[in-house]
Amino acid sequence: HRKEKECQRPEEGLKNDLIIRAARGQQTERAPCWIMRQAGRYLPEFRKVREQHDFFTCCRDAELASEITIQPIRRYSGLLDAAIIFSDILVVPQAMGLEVEMLPSKGPHFPAPLVEPKDVERLRKKVDVEKELGYVFDAIRLTRKKLDGEVPLIGFCGAPWTLMAYMVEGGGSKGFEKAKTWLFKYPEESKELLQRIADICTDFLVGQVKAGAQLLQVFDSWAGELSPSDFRTFSLPYLRSIASSVRDALSTRSIPCPPLIVFAKGALGHSLPEVVKAGYDVVGLDWTVEPSVARRVVELSSCGGTAYKSASAENEAGHKVALQGNLDPAVLYAGNEAIEREVEKMIRAKKGGFGGGGGYICNLGHGITPGVDPEAVKVYLKAVHRVSREVSGA
Ligand code: CP3
Repeated sequence: HRKEKECQRPEEGLKNDLIIRAARGQQTERAPCWIMRQAGRYLPEFRKVREQHDFFTCCRDAELASEITIQPIRRYSGLLDAAIIFSDILVVPQAMGLEVEMLPSKGPHFPAPLVEPKDVERLRKKVDVEKELGYVFDAIRLTRKKLDGEVPLIGFCGAPWTLMAYMVEGGGSKGFEKAKTWLFKYPEESKELLQRIADICTDFLVGQVKAGAQLLQVFDSWAGELSPSDFRTFSLPYLRSIASSVRDALSTRSIPCPPLIVFAKGALGHSLPEVVKAGYDVVGLDWTVEPSVARRVVELSSCGGTAYKSASAENEAGHKVALQGNLDPAVLYAGNEAIEREVEKMIRAKKGGFGGGGGYICNLGHGITPGVDPEAVKVYLKAVHRVSREVSGA
């Protein structure tokens, strides 16, 4: 019985498969929409749960994680087209053997970060993702049950460079001097560590698909801290490695590969054509990229459907890479008029927006921030529905 379930295509049994179709480059009657960090501190119902429970306890308890995942779906009923599993990118460094705590107003903190290459010896030689991260798979299984096909569930992980940056810096950073010192002083050791992280991310994503994740996103939040050449040396190869290894691993097990999304924040001004060809179905954009320009880059990079051959059977011929993004999250502070205006600019082709050509998933250009009024989010989502329906001619 379990085996059978594992072989399901991601869209099977869904009442709303808009995002799956858009991720495959298809035309949709309106743009599907979700929000990075949609389950988070701007929601009073999330803050209430957090008053009672520590951050990583919420990640580790399937009941709590699934409840938090569903909070925005419930509040914005009919307006959000996907849920994203409540967890954090830093569960992977934890699984590798590093301690991470979430400090109340300071964010993540590693009491013993990697200072020098010899510190890598402190990491687990081999990471059994079922053992170390099985709680994420449990949360995914329970959330799928609770969602009951209402919207698809997104799984995710951090990208190797972003995770390495946290593991070396020991937390957030302004200049990333420690992590960059590794890249410049110990390039070979850095590459070994990055590949090791990529391999664990691959196993982790495959496990999430087996548990029921219907799309996957890889977050390279600090990609933009690197020069174009360093991005292509220390980030891009590992993003590629994850996409191709996930496709291979699933195909060997005859499990259909769900759409893969890559979000390399800040790197697309210089490397959009390279990221479009990195093996993902969808490229997430931050707000520094003009939607119409990104559309043209995709046309040029993937004409003839040769961008890559997707491993999933229905896409043997390859499809055009889809785009996701990219409203500046700060717009949500600026009042209804500004929200409506900026949504128009993001979506209408004649205003430089993504237009109605399908293959588009609406999102912010980065995560929603804690000070946003949940009512402003409703205004934003309704504007997206209205404008994108109009441009799609539906
Ligand atoms: O709703 C969702 O998007 C799913 C859950 C999710 C969280 N973190 C929950 C969270 C996801 C997808 C993430 C990804 C994540 N975590 C990223 C990549 C995305 C991005 O924003 O760039 C990064 C860099 C992290 C690391 C991290 N976790 C930081 C820097 C912080 C603290 C500051 C902040 O931005 O919130 C966290 C904590 C965190 N992760 C919170 C939430 C809801 C808030 C912490 C709290 O509740 O106290």
